Amino acid sequence: MSEGILLTSGSPAAVRGALLPVAERIARLDEALPQIRAALEGEHDAVAIEATLACLLWETLLQTNWCGFYRRVDERTLAVGPYQGTMGCLRIDLARGVCGACARTATMQRVPDVSLFPGHIACDDRTRSELVLPVVREGRVLAVLDLDSPHLDAFSTDEAERLTALLADVFAEASF
Ligand code: SME
Repeated sequence: MSEGILLTSGSPAAVRGALLPVAERIARLDEALPQIRAALEGEHDAVAIEATLACLLWETLLQTNWCGFYRRVDERTLAVGPYQGTMGCLRIDLARGVCGACARTATMQRVPDVSLFPGHIACDDRTRSELVLPVVREGRVLAVLDLDSPHLDAFSTDEAERLTALLADVFAEASF
């Protein structure tokens, strides 16, 4: 396994940064997910899983300008983990931002327009929409997957559901 994601469903419009129609995005994701699960089979180290997901989801989700993890380092702080994209904030207080809301509430945050989210943290001021998913173990959020896009409404509920299931699977046995 050294090639990254191999996708046969790519249209000429499928280039880094593009917001493809939602049906095409789902087709890409559905083709990529078995490859991602296979790549991570048997891996239990949380950082190894996070780094590989950041890479492979970045290849799959072309609409992202940031794709990666924040890790819970104490009761009130997230610290940046493996990611792809423009430079992220190093630390986020759980009281702040979309990532903080996700970590605090252990619930997925889908924000179609970040300008309408009170306290959104603009690490990259081109970001227009965001999806943040929790990595939960025994009720405690240990990390969050943060996906940002320079397009409005770049993440559908169908993508969110598939990514939630992926995180549950690949982190099920992980050691943090
Ligand atoms: N926008 C996020 C902060 C993380 S970065 O954008 C990479 C937030 O509001 O939590």
